[in-house]
This record gives sequence, structure tokens and C-alpha cells, in this order.
Amino acid sequence: MRTPAPDRGWELVATCTRGLEDVLRRELTGLGHDEARCGRGVVGFRGDLAAVYRANLRLRTAMRVLRTLAEGPAAGRDSLYELAATVPWEEMFARGMTFAVESAGRGSGFASAAFAALIVKDAIVDRLRARWGSRPDVARERPDLLVHLHLTGERAGIALDSSGEPLSHRGYRPRGGPAPLAETLAAGVLLLAGYDGSQPLLDPMAGTGTIAIEAGLIATRSAPGARRAFACERWPRHQPSLLAAERDGAARLRRKAAAPIVAGDRDPAAVAAVRRNALEAGVDDAVQVVQKDALDLALPGPGALIVANPPYGVRLGDTAALRALYRGLGDAFKRHGAGATAWLLVGNPDLAKAVGLRPSRRIVLFNGPIECRLLRFDLYEGSRGRQEVGSTGADRQDSERS
Ligand SMILES: C[S@@+](CC[C@H](N)C(=O)[O-])C[C@H]1O[C@@H](n2cnc3c(N)ncnc32)[C@H](O)[C@@H]1O
Repeated sequence: MRTPAPDRGWELVATCTRGLEDVLRRELTGLGHDEARCGRGVVGFRGDLAAVYRANLRLRTAMRVLRTLAEGPAAGRDSLYELAATVPWEEMFARGMTFAVESAGRGSGFASAAFAALIVKDAIVDRLRARWGSRPDVARERPDLLVHLHLTGERAGIALDSSGEPLSHRGYRPRGGPAPLAETLAAGVLLLAGYDGSQPLLDPMAGTGTIAIEAGLIATRSAPGARRAFACERWPRHQPSLLAAERDGAARLRRKAAAPIVAGDRDPAAVAAVRRNALEAGVDDAVQVVQKDALDLALPGPGALIVANPPYGVRLGDTAALRALYRGLGDAFKRHGAGATAWLLVGNPDLAKAVGLRPSRRIVLFNGPIECRLLRFDLYEGSRGRQEVGSTGADRQDSERS
């Protein structure tokens, strides 16, 4: 059983979509966390309260930042209760605070993760009642403290959620409606594509504008969490002045975008949504929005990156029209894309083949439950035939699972 040693800072974990772990690790290295290590869907690092604030404000690909409180054997009720009871909950709570325990994973000793969460809840309540003579209330909606329990076989990890709403909820886009790309995944796709704001960028199928807006945030060095609050602001030891200093420090990094970012869509409603969302995100000066068919491709400058998430359709009957769209996109790349690099996030491998170009990279990523491929196409000047499917060009597969 292990409770993290406080002298080296807290043990922290940033969670992410599978496939983005290494991008997230590099982001953490960029924030000075050379110790960051990747796991499956997580990156571990160490730090204090300032590091928690900074990670929440500035990480582009993290979904949540958790502070690990205990990690150890949990083969059944007694060992899980004992593990949870070792945590000094009286330091995490102030009197009157509500809490909830959220569970994930699978523990071999429990019928369900939800049942295991009840055991942790009991351990928290019992420890605080013994010390304070009163117990904190459970609140399913908006608890003051959100405790995460993660079960893996005969082991469990118990952590505090410092983020609250997932960090993909930047606050610039209304939630609900047709499911667009998660902001964290859009940022991850851009970082995997090597985008750093110095290249002209085009998303010709922008939808709600997530890719272009995340590009705008990268290009202007804007903190993605600048417009929202975090769960750690309700922690008893929250330091408002320290968070304010982190917010000011992040704001001082802002600068003008160095290269154009163009978001296009043929649907006027999408165009209006991109404009509204870009304004809300504070990048309306960096993102140009155009109503245009993607097949009339116009590169925004030399050495451009095209990054797009074309529709992949789930309804029967969509396929023929979509195949024609992907074929048209491939033709447009060949005719008008010379000198650019295109990255397409596709959820349907058959449709991807219709592009008719051989990808030079394939990266597996998950868009929620949908296993997607991020495909890279190098659009060479005057070499149309060389890269078409069936040629002898290299076909690298990165992180493709067997
Ligand atoms: C899957 S959505 C993109 C979602 C977007 N990444 C987001 O996060 O909101 C695909 C978009 O492609 C647009 N689209 C489809 N065919 C198009 C075409 N030929 N030209 C331009 N846009 C097109 C649709 O209107 C839709 O907004």
C-alpha cells in the first residue's frame, strides 16, 4: 500500500484519449515535467498546487488532472476499505463540503465498480465521523469534492479530480447537439500533425470549427483553460492568488498568430457556428471563416497543413455519397494541394481508401468509442502518380494495433 510522499510534490495524473499519451507527455515536458511517464490513457507526473493549476489551464490534450491519494491492493471489500481509510480525508475536506465517488475500470473482487465506490464512500464517511463527529453529505450533482476510484484487477487507485468538467469543455462551444470532435482530440490531432502555429492551416470541413479554433489557440499561445473554472477551486487549500498568478502568466504568453488559419464549410449554419465559437474562444482575429466547398480547395499559403475530420456517417445509405466525397477530396488534393501535407481523421477505413492516395502515416486514435485513423498524405509537387494507392511508396504504420 502506498500513499504518495509529499516532499517530492504530489503524485499527479493527467488522463487523455488513447493514442494521445505521448503528445500529452510532451506537453508536460514543455511545462517542465521531465519526469512525466506515459501509461494507458494517462500520463503521470509530480507537482504542487501551482502545477495542478498550470496543468489544468495549459494542457491542450488532457481530459482531467487527478491528484493520486492512495494506490494499493484491493482484492475485496476489506482491503479496499483499508486502502481508502489510510487517506487523510480531513485534509481534503472542509466541514460542510459535499462529495461523490466516481469509479472506473474493473476489479476482480467486486461485482461492479459502482459497488466498490460505495466502499470508498463508507471509508471516507467513517474516518470523518470519527474525527469530526459529523459526516459529509454525498451530492451526485456538482459535488464539492470528486473522488476517483480506479480498479485494475486486484489493485485500486484513489485520486481527487482537480478539473471537474472534462478539460475538453473549454467553454467556447455550446454542449449538446450533433457530436463534433472533442476539443482535446482536435488539439491532439494538430500536435500530432506537427502544427505549431508557424504553418498556414486549412480545415475545409470545419463543422463547429474545433480544429481551426484549437489551431487558433495554439498559434496565439492561448491557454485552453483560460475561460473556465476548475474543481480544485473548491478545495479547502485552494489559493486564489496563486491561481490568479498562473492565469496572468498564461495570458502574458499570448501573441498574434504568425500564419493564416482558414476554416471552411459548405453549410451556412456551420459557418455561422464557427464564427460564433471563434469569437467566444477569443481567436476570431486569427481564424478566417469561409463558406466554400472543400472540393474547390484553395491552400492558405506555401507549406500549408490541411487538417480535417470529414463526415463518416453512421446511417445506412450514406456510404455511396460519402465515398464520392472522399474521392473528390483526393482529386482536389492531387489537383490543388501540391506542396501541402494533409491529415484526415477518419472513422471508416473503407471511405479512407476512396481518397485514392497512399497515406505516409497512420495513427490510431479514439473519438469517444469510435476507433479512428489519422492519415497523413504528402502532396508532392508534380508527383501525382507516385503516391497513388498501389504505388511502391513507403506505408508507415504508427501505433497501428494488431
Ligand atoms: C464531421 S463534421 C466536422 C466536425 C468538426 N471537426 C467539428 O469538430 O465540429 C463534417 C463537416 O463537413 C462538412 N462538409 C461535408 N461535405 C462538405 C463539402 N463538400 N465541402 C465543405 N464542407 C463539407 C459538413 O457540413 C460538416 O460540417
